[in-house]
Parts: sequence; C-alpha cells; structure tokens
Amino acid sequence: MTTVHNQAQKGDIADLVLMPGDPLRAKHVAEKYLSNAKQVNSVRGMLAFTGSYNGKHVSVMGSGMGMPSIGIYSYELFDHYEAKKIIRIGTCGAYLEDINVADIILAQGACTNSAYTSQNRLNGVYAPISDFSLLLAAYEASQKIVGSQRNVRVGNVLSSDVFYTIDPDEWKKWRDMGVLAVEMEAAALYFNAARLGGKALAILTVSDNLATGESSSSEVREKSFTQMAQIALELA
Ligand code: HPA
Repeated sequence: MTTVHNQAQKGDIADLVLMPGDPLRAKHVAEKYLSNAKQVNSVRGMLAFTGSYNGKHVSVMGSGMGMPSIGIYSYELFDHYEAKKIIRIGTCGAYLEDINVADIILAQGACTNSAYTSQNRLNGVYAPISDFSLLLAAYEASQKIVGSQRNVRVGNVLSSDVFYTIDPDEWKKWRDMGVLAVEMEAAALYFNAARLGGKALAILTVSDNLATGESSSSEVREKSFTQMAQIALELA
C-alpha cells in the first residue's frame, strides 16, 4: 500500500530515514553512502531511496522546503510506513556572531512562528524538542567525525514560515532569547514525532550568518554536508 504522496510500498522504508530538504541531495547521499540503494519514490520529484549502511537498512528522502512539506512527508513516514527515527539534515542561518559558517548545530528544541504546532489546540504552547537519545548519539558521533575542524553547537533554533521577512531586524528578538539559528522545518518534524510516537532530530550546517553577513562557499558547504550525513548515518 502506498500514500497519495509516496509510491513506496510499506516495507520499502527503513526504520531510520534521513531527510535533506533537496531531493537531489537525497539521491547524492544514497549514491555515496548506501549499498544496494533502490529508488522507492519519485512522486512530485520527492525522491526516496532505501539501501544499507554498515549492514543496516536506511532510507533517505527529500522533505521539500517548509513545514507543510516536511509535515506531510514525515507524517506519512511515521504513520503509514512506521518509520521509527527521522533525521533532518539541512542548512540554517546562524543568529550568533560566534557561530561560523560550516559549523554544525544539533537542534535540541525548535521554536516556531508557524501555526503548524498549534493545530492540536492545547491549552498553551507546545515546545517541540528533539529526541534525547538521538541528540546524545549525534553529539558523540559528531565529536569523532568533525573533530576540531568546526564547532558543534546544541540548542534552540527557530523554524520559520517566512524566508523573506518584511522586517529585516525581526530575527534579533530570537537571537536575544538565545536562539542559535533559523531554518524552516524542524518544529513540524518534532511535532509529528511527538504526535505519532516517533523519534526525530534536526542536524544542521550553517550556510550563512545573519549577524556577520558571512555565507559559505560551495566547497565548504559540500564538506560540511558530507559530515552532517555521516553523523546522521551513525544513528542507524
Ligand atoms: N532563513 C531560513 N532558513 C534558512 C536560512 C535563513 O536565513 N539559511 C539557511 N536556511
């Protein structure tokens, strides 16, 4: 059985799914790291692959950009395909001056300006957080994989619905609350994990810094993306 957005059969998806935003990045991770990788989805171009890494089954699928997109795909992966762990691997814009491009951020929590996480009408505000066992394992793996080449930070991010904000200084209020960086998906992923009994983590590399105006070259981006994928694969 498939879903409206995913033509994979139920057993085609592994317990661990890596989700880069870009489906071509999913193809790249599958080609570079998975053995016997098989493409299991191409509906709407949202490529998904399943193969093995160190003898363990792993899937990798694009999430698209933004919370509605990752919200749909991760919901179906947890609910219909019974995935156990979803790791977003993506980029973020840092808010703090002392965070360098290509540093890695493990999103312990995800604040949001999106209505996605208020859909269950709790009598208050739900705080989307990552799974601690995944966070700890990713932190430990990152120390081995990244070493002293770049910093690994753990903390809060903002999952924003808006990339092109009207107010250019809006981000400073989040920075003043100690939020490390902005991206556009983690809060919906964490919300779905909580709702459906799955585990989730967002591992992010810093592609640009809003405080310093720095942005990374394509080679730096590629190298830090590779390390991020390696950290995520250690979670299988
Ligand atoms: N905003 C939102 N998402 C991002 C950014 C940003 O500046 N950089 C990388 N992902």
